[in-house]
Amino acid sequence: MEKEFSMLFRPVMGDADFLRISKFIHNECGIRLPMNKKVMVEARLLNRLRDLHILTYSEYISFVFDSGKIDPEVNNMIDVITTNKTDFFREAAHFQFFVNEALPEFVSNHPGKQFRLWSAGCSSGEEVYTLAMILNDFGLENSRFLFKILGTDISTRMLLAARTAIFAEGKASPIPSALKKRYLLRSKDRNKASVRIVRELREKVEFKYHNLISDALTNYDTFDAIFCRNVLIYFEKETQMKVIEKLTKVLRSGCYLFIGHSEAIMNHNLPLVQVGPSIYQKQ
Ligand SMILES: C[S@@+](CC[C@H](N)C(=O)[O-])C[C@H]1O[C@@H](n2cnc3c(N)ncnc32)[C@H](O)[C@@H]1O
Repeated sequence: MEKEFSMLFRPVMGDADFLRISKFIHNECGIRLPMNKKVMVEARLLNRLRDLHILTYSEYISFVFDSGKIDPEVNNMIDVITTNKTDFFREAAHFQFFVNEALPEFVSNHPGKQFRLWSAGCSSGEEVYTLAMILNDFGLENSRFLFKILGTDISTRMLLAARTAIFAEGKASPIPSALKKRYLLRSKDRNKASVRIVRELREKVEFKYHNLISDALTNYDTFDAIFCRNVLIYFEKETQMKVIEKLTKVLRSGCYLFIGHSEAIMNHNLPLVQVGPSIYQKQ
C-alpha cells in the first residue's frame, strides 16, 4: 500500500541532506546552521513536505535544487528556516536613547531635513512600526519634522505580513496605551482580535526585499539611523563584519547604529564609537 503522509509519519533527514541545505543557506543568507540545528531544520521543513505531498527530505531537496533552475520553493524554504521572532518595543532602552539623544541632536544639526531610518532584518515589521510611532510622536512636538522608514528582510513571507500591518491584539501589549489609541485600529470583526497600524504611519514606511550579505541598496543614499538588531547573531564573525561595514557606509556621520543587546562589534577599524549598550555612533 502506498505510504500516505499522515500526521504520525515523521521522515528523518540524513546528514548529507542537512549539509546540502546548510551549505545553501550559508551561501545564500549568511546564516550558520551547524549540525546541532538539524532537528530544528527538520521540524521547520516538515510542513513544506506535507503541503507538497513529498515523503522524504531527500525528495524535497532534489525538488528544490536539482530541477536545473532554482525552484521558487527556495523562498518558502528560506521563510521557514529563518528565525523571525520580533516584538513591538523590543529592547526598549534603545528607544529611550533614540528619543532623548538621537532625535534632538538630529533636529538641531539638520533643521528641516527629512529623517531617514533603515530597519535591516525587520521581520514582520514590529520594529519598524514601533519606530514609526515614536517618530510620529516626536513630529507632533517638533513641527516640520518629517521622516521615512525603510524596512528590509530576506523573508518574503515576513515582508508580506509587515506590509499588511495587521497584528494579533496580544502582540500589541508592549505598546504604551497613549500610542495604542493614536496609532492602532481595532478590527471591526469582534471575533478577529486583531489590530492594524493606522494609514498615517503605513504611508511613511516602505518594505523591501534585501539580502544583507549580497545585495546593494539602490535608490537610497544614506541613513540618519540604522537598526539592525538580532540579525548579526545568525552570521559568523567574518560575515558580521562585512555586514557592519556595509551598514556603516550608508550611515551618515554623527548618526547611530543600533544592534541587538546580545550582539557586539569588536576589534574593528570602522569609524564607529560605542556610546551605549549596543549603540554605536559614526564618527
Ligand atoms: C530575529 S529577526 C529580528 C527582527 C527585528 N530586527 C528585531 O530585533 O526584533 C531576524 C530577521 O533577520 C532576517 N535575516 C536573516 N538573514 C538575513 C539576510 N542575509 N539579509 C536580510 N535579512 C536577514 C530574518 O529573515 C529575520 O526576519
